[in-house]
Amino acid sequence: MTATVHVDLPGRAYDIEIGPGVLDQAGRRIAGMGGRRHVCILTDANVAGLHLAQLQAALSEAGLTSEALALPPGEATKCWAQLERSVEWLLSQKVERGDIVVAFGGGVIGDLAGFAAAILRRGVRFVQIPTSLLAQVDSSVGGKTGINSPAGKNLIGAFHQPSLVLADTALLGTLTPRDFLAGYGEVVKYGLLGDAAFFDWLEGEGPALAAGDMDARVRAVTRSCQMKADIVQRDETEQGDRALLNLGHTFCHALEAATGYSDRLLHGEGVAIGCALAFELSARLGLCSQEDPSRVRAHLRDMGMKVDIRDIPGDLPDAAGLLELMGQDKKVLDGKLRFILAQGIGAAFITSDVPRDAVLGVLEDALRVV
Ligand code: GLY
Repeated sequence: MTATVHVDLPGRAYDIEIGPGVLDQAGRRIAGMGGRRHVCILTDANVAGLHLAQLQAALSEAGLTSEALALPPGEATKCWAQLERSVEWLLSQKVERGDIVVAFGGGVIGDLAGFAAAILRRGVRFVQIPTSLLAQVDSSVGGKTGINSPAGKNLIGAFHQPSLVLADTALLGTLTPRDFLAGYGEVVKYGLLGDAAFFDWLEGEGPALAAGDMDARVRAVTRSCQMKADIVQRDETEQGDRALLNLGHTFCHALEAATGYSDRLLHGEGVAIGCALAFELSARLGLCSQEDPSRVRAHLRDMGMKVDIRDIPGDLPDAAGLLELMGQDKKVLDGKLRFILAQGIGAAFITSDVPRDAVLGVLEDALRVV
């Protein structure tokens, strides 16, 4: 029960291996890539405690030695200080141009380690071994790497494709239900943006998938990665279509900024709420039927996820304040907000032509206490 998705970029093609136990392929696959027989692993302290021994055993079985640096868990690790620490550590490990760096963790580690690999000796190869659902379906695929700046999230970075992705779905079993469902927000996003049949399937199988059904998990991760690979192949550096992957993100980034990127709102939770708002906005603009946002919200509700802005604990700015935060999003082009809207489930498109008042109206209604 494993699957392979191939990302076919000229000169930078790679495989994504998906399924329970693919972590055990790490040694054989990395040994087959050449370079020194010593592998440097960047991870976080939580993942190291749970899974590092399994990874290092797999490497050692293939005759590879390894050393790991475990960084603090959490978004705050995507910063200059931890990047410097990681790069200096890789240099102290004598990583050379032909060697492989492993990113072993969730989105934070994948982004940071990928960026460290991008700038070390002007670029060394790296392997993504994502351990969260969000990282398996989104951040480990497609080569976006980077860190945060005090001026905003992901503002410093580079495109640097991994040489291999090993998405071991058995590792998802150690996620908290909240973290799992946050990653599921990104899975739902794929159905909503481009595959209505996948969304239908998620409506039926989502609860079993969340409860641990491994076949369903593999299928969901595989379809998500295939959709992302197709988009990245068309538009690696986000000149066009890749922005479709940002469905829900304009709202999400404002909500994340309003909650201080804290535990009040996880990124995937914000994506789910943002997708519901993007469909609401699309319906109000007459682009899709009013039933579509209702269906999106019903599925998120069935899954026990946050659906509405009101589900976020604590105080939030008013609608005008949230709109102001949207204006600081890096997807603003020439001062115009860029939205991903939809003509229906599975039919998203990119537009900068959204009346400010319509966005304000959606936010005002979403914030209204019922
Ligand atoms: N997470 C959006 C992208 O990779 O483009």
